Amino acid sequence: MLNVDKLMVFYENAIAINELSIEVNRGEIVGIIGSNSAGKTTLMNTVSGLLLDTKLKEQRKGGERITIFGRISFLEQDITDRWADERVKMGIVLSRERHPVFVESDVEENLKIASYLLSRAEMREKIDYIYRIFPALVPLRKRKAGFLSGGEQQMLAIGMSLMAKPKLMLLDEPLLGLSPAIQVKLIESIVTIRKEADVTILICEQFARPVLPIIDRGYVLENGMLTLHGTGEELYNNPEIKAAYFGV
Ligand SMILES: Nc1ncnc2c1ncn2[C@@H]1O[C@H](COP(=O)(O)OP(=O)(O)OP(=O)(O)O)[C@@H](O)[C@H]1O
Ligand SMILES: [Mg+2]
Repeated sequence: MLNVDKLMVFYENAIAINELSIEVNRGEIVGIIGSNSAGKTTLMNTVSGLLLDTKLKEQRKGGERITIFGRISFLEQDITDRWADERVKMGIVLSRERHPVFVESDVEENLKIASYLLSRAEMREKIDYIYRIFPALVPLRKRKAGFLSGGEQQMLAIGMSLMAKPKLMLLDEPLLGLSPAIQVKLIESIVTIRKEADVTILICEQFARPVLPIIDRGYVLENGMLTLHGTGEELYNNPEIKAAYFGV
């Protein structure tokens, strides 16, 4: 479904992604495991097209800071040069790190804002569906998103991504800053989304322990380079992974 072929990304002269090739098949949950500054966000932003948009903006200002090499294809189409909004319409939807929601708007307004690709009827149906996946949001529907806990904001952020009818959902560190109990809940929701909504998922995380049990395959990224690739189970049982990415 998604093929990233020999991707290289530079910020100025610093390399953030180094000859990275990955693939995601339809229906899979694929993990990207990497510590701070491994290149996870850069990868997500490149696949979503956000980095291309940023590059263009900087070029307009006269800068030539970001360089991207390699090809990306999605559903057999080369999307390397497509803008982020075109990729969203094709079904690639990114939930960015540190749950950016509209803090001054309430939960339901946030979901509506994210529903610009839907008809009114579809919007209502999808909102109800999101409340079924995240029942914790139901009593909070009129609460300003800025007053939600970190976990609730993350649920909302994922709910907002679902409003865009993703075929491939990109989750950038959805567990960041959440308590272990909330992490478990969120992980369960991700499994539900894959199963019920027919959404393929690419998730990156720096703490591998909660994620490895639910992924089909995972790639380990260090300084922008692929160092390991295996099934979730293989990675889970790998002592080096345990030592480096299980955290405390
Ligand atoms: N806009 C940018 N301009 C310059 N350098 C950047 C930019 N964004 C990221 N980098 C650099 O690229 C490398 C990869 O960063 P990236 O944010 O992709 O890593 P990450 O794995 O998402 O890290 P984290 O776990 O902290 O979110 C880092 O060395 C970072 O400093
Ligand atoms: Mg990041």
